[in-house]
Order: sequence, then C-alpha cells, then structure tokens
Amino acid sequence: MEKLVLLPGPVMVHEDVLLRSAKQVMNHRSEEFEEVLRECLELSRYVFQTEGEVAIITGSGTAGMEAAVYSLVEPGEEVVAVVNGKFGERFADIAERRGAEVIRVEFEWGEAADPERVEEALADSDAEVVTMVHCETSTTVLNPVEEVARVCREYDVIFVVDAISSLGGAEFRMDDWGVDVCVTGSQKVLGCPPGLALVAVNDRALERMEERESGSYYLDLPKYLRFLKEDPMQTPYTPAVNEFYALLEALRRLKKEGLENRWERCRELQRVVREGIRALGLELFVEDDEIASPTVTGVVYPDGVDDREFRGLLRDKYDVVVAGGQDHLAGKIFRIGHMGEVRVRDMVTAVTCVGLAMRELGVDVDVGAAAEAMADAIGG
Ligand SMILES: Cc1ncc(COP(=O)(O)O)c(C=O)c1O
Repeated sequence: MEKLVLLPGPVMVHEDVLLRSAKQVMNHRSEEFEEVLRECLELSRYVFQTEGEVAIITGSGTAGMEAAVYSLVEPGEEVVAVVNGKFGERFADIAERRGAEVIRVEFEWGEAADPERVEEALADSDAEVVTMVHCETSTTVLNPVEEVARVCREYDVIFVVDAISSLGGAEFRMDDWGVDVCVTGSQKVLGCPPGLALVAVNDRALERMEERESGSYYLDLPKYLRFLKEDPMQTPYTPAVNEFYALLEALRRLKKEGLENRWERCRELQRVVREGIRALGLELFVEDDEIASPTVTGVVYPDGVDDREFRGLLRDKYDVVVAGGQDHLAGKIFRIGHMGEVRVRDMVTAVTCVGLAMRELGVDVDVGAAAEAMADAIGG
C-alpha cells in the first residue's frame, strides 16, 4: 500500500504527472521539444509572477542556487547572506566556495530575518548581492521577502531568493516585490519528481551576469538563457526530457487550480495542522503564526520521545511519513510537509496518527480535542 508521504520535499506526485513522464524520449533539439519547453517557461513565469527569463536546469534545487551565485559573483566580491537555518547557510557556503567575501547576517534558528539587520549590513559593506531563503525548510520559518526586497532596492543591490520549498505554495510576487533572481525545485510545491531546478532572472540580474564570467561551466545561467533564443529553443546540455514532460503536466495542474487558490490551500492545510498539533498538547517549533511557513510545520518532540522510534512507528504502523529535524535540530523536532497535491483529509490523518503514535510512546495527548480543533480550522 502506498504511504502518505508528507515530507517537505520530495512530495507525492499526482498520477497524471507520473504518467506523463512515462513517455518515450524525444530529440531535445527539435520543434517537438521546443513546444514542451516553451509552455513550461510560460507557466513558470506565471508561478514566479515575473516577466523575466526562466532557466530550467537538470539538477536539484541546489544546482539552481549554485548557478545563481556562480553567475552573479566573482571571487573577491562581497555578498550579504541572510542565515537563519540550513539553507541560508548553504547560500553562504556556496558564495564562499566561489571565493566571495561573505557577510553573514545571522539569526537564531526559528526566528525570521529582520530587514533592518540586512540594511545595516548593506550600509556597512560594498556588497552588491544579497541572498536569502523564503521558506527556511529546516526551521519552518517564512522569511519576509517583500520587506528585504525593499531594502535591496533602496541600496540598488541584486536580491537572490531561494524559494525552493515555497514557490507556488506561499504568496510570492517576483516582479512586484523587486526580487532579481529566484530559484525553485521541481520536487516541492510544484509536485513533480526531483530533478529540475528553475531559476528566474530579471534584466538587472542578467546584465550583471553578462558583465561577469560564470565560475561554473555547466551552471552558467546566461548560457541557458542564450540557448532559449536558438531555433529551435533548447537547453545547452541534454535535459532530463521526461522530467520536462512531468513538469509541464504539473504546471498545467497548478495553473488550472490557480496560483492564489494554491496559496490559500496551503494556508488552510497549515491552519489545520497547527490547530491540530496545539490541541493534541504538543509544541510547535515556530509558535508565531505570522512567521510560520504555509508549506511545512515543525513540531517539538516532548521529552523522552526518540525521533527514530516515533517516525518509525508512524511510518510502519500508520503509513505516514514525515521528516526529522536537520543539523542541531535532529532529534528535537519533526516536520510535516503540506505542499503539492495534499488535501485537508491528509492533514487530519497525519495529525491524528501523530497523536496515536505519541500516545503509544507514553505521551499524554488529546486526540479527540485535536480532531475537533481540526474540524473547526477547515475552511475558517
Ligand atoms: C529551502 C531549500 N533550499 C534548498 C534545498 C536544496 O534542494 P535540493 O535538495 O533539491 O538540492 C532545499 C531542499 O530541501 C530547501 O528546502
């Protein structure tokens, strides 16, 4: 029997998307593939809310992060990296690997970034590039992209956002907010198998990239964008053709649902999970609803509950798969993903099973109260 997989990526993939990828490969330098690529790009622009260009790279989300940094920054240049979790740290590490002087603006894991601290870092440095993660998946915090983008505009610097675990599931308006580069991955809210990174780039960012030489041969973003102008439109290297078929189907599904409806659906799933967890009597890692991500929720383990034992029980007895904590949060929290093609009934199942498993491990939880709280949170 299939398990209910509620990871913050990879997510369960709709059958139509899986079936679409089970088609014969095609020539990736043909009019036939151009059609697939063109529609993927058009629909991606809708999801990013941009009129800019989008590069689709065969690789996981990190390839998109690396492509952005290696194309925008040359060794010795300064970069301000907002770090409040594992993935903010990853951006800083990538920039360091590139040879940049990285100025880390750090916050406790579980706190949201403060735009004023970003402003201070820009005032005290010559940095022309700022990196930040939208949904910091490791802590389940949603960072204030719109506000930080405003600061970046004031200082006339390039703002690069990792929206890998939020794009499509949390409000994001690349052009209106003034984000210059945004990265996402196929295996999160978009609801595809892992394998593609999508990077949206505006004119300002492209101009800067064109004045530099990418530090990477494969992840050279301007090159991806140049190849979109070839006839037929194509990618520089052999793309994972079947993943593009899947992406096209998944993006069509998202368009049909409507971007704002999907944002709202994730908000509703988040409400149901949070109210259910609270009513069970468990502690949310991010207590403040204002900064909690609509795509993933972190729950603190009560004293004495072992992560492996709990998640093993949840998986083997109840067929529900959730993620553990990362780095120093390993063993301290678990995370429930609510992105992609999941529904309210999946959240009710997950939270109820979390309660039953906790009870079996000797934790005093109120499963009945959780069911009622979740029922109240639906639709409201
Ligand atoms: C916010 C964020 N950034 C980056 C990544 C890395 O993506 P990938 O594992 O696809 O390289 C993840 C994956 O969980 C993520 O959630």
